[in-house]
Amino acid sequence: MAEQKLLEINELTKEYVRNTVTFSAVKNVNLSVKRGEFISIIGRSGSGKSTLLNMTAGLLRPSSGFINFEGVDIAFFNDEEASHFRNTKIGFIPQGRSLLSHLTVLENITLPCYLAVQKNNAEDITAKALSFMEETGITHLAASLPKELSGGEIKRVTIARALINSPALLIADEPTGDLDTATTADIMRLFKRIAEAGTAIIMVTHEQDTVQYGNKVYVMDAGNLTLQG
Ligand SMILES: Nc1ncnc2c1ncn2[C@@H]1O[C@H](COP(=O)(O)OP(=O)(O)OP(=O)(O)O)[C@@H](O)[C@H]1O
Ligand SMILES: [Mg+2]
Repeated sequence: MAEQKLLEINELTKEYVRNTVTFSAVKNVNLSVKRGEFISIIGRSGSGKSTLLNMTAGLLRPSSGFINFEGVDIAFFNDEEASHFRNTKIGFIPQGRSLLSHLTVLENITLPCYLAVQKNNAEDITAKALSFMEETGITHLAASLPKELSGGEIKRVTIARALINSPALLIADEPTGDLDTATTADIMRLFKRIAEAGTAIIMVTHEQDTVQYGNKVYVMDAGNLTLQG
C-alpha cells in the first residue's frame, strides 16, 4: 500500500500575465507522490509554491502539462468535476483565510462531509469532527464564530476541516504559519500519524523545523521544483 503511486505530475506549467508581460510561475514541474508519502516544499516568496498546490487541488487550471491522480488526468476537469474531485479525495489547507464567517467552528469543520455526500450520519460526522478538534486543541471553540478566533485557532480549524473526509491527499499551504513552536510540533506529529495511516501529504513550509517530519524535501526556485539533498 505504501508503495502505491497516487499522484504523478508531468511537465506542469502555469503562465500568468502581469503588465502585459507573460511569465511562468510554475515551469515544467515533475513530481511523483505515493500513498502515505509526506513531502515538504520550501522556497522563497513568489517562487510558485501556492500556484503548484492550487493546480494540484484542482482549483487552478494549468497552462500545460499533466496531473494524474489515481490514474485519472485531473488537470483539465470542468468546474463540477474539479469540485467533486476535491470534496472526495483532497483535504486542502489554503494559505489564506477560508472559513465561512456565518458558520460556527463545528459547522465549518463538518461542512466537507455534507458536500461529499458520504453515507455517514450527522452523529458520526460530529463525533469525527470532535476527535480532530481534540487533536488540534480547539474543542472549546466548537460554538464560536471565526471572527471570535485568533489567527492560530483559525488555522487549526482549517486543519481539522481538511482532515474530516479522510482524504487520499492532504495539500497544506503553510499549515503552521500562525502557530507557536509547541502547537506546530503537535500538528506535525498529527500529520505524521495521518501519513503513516496512508494519507499522502504535500506541505509548503517556511519553517525548517517542520521538514524533519516528512520523507522528502523539494525546493521551489523561480517556478522550478527540485529535490533537495
Ligand atoms: N493571478 C495571478 N496573476 C498574475 N500573477 C500571479 C497570480 N497569482 C500569483 N501570481 C504571481 O506568481 C508568482 C508565484 O506566486 P505564488 O503565490 O505561487 O508564490 P508562493 O511561492 O506561494 O509565495 P509565498 O511564499 O509568498 O506564498 C508570484 O510572482 C505572484 O506574484
Ligand atoms: Mg504561497
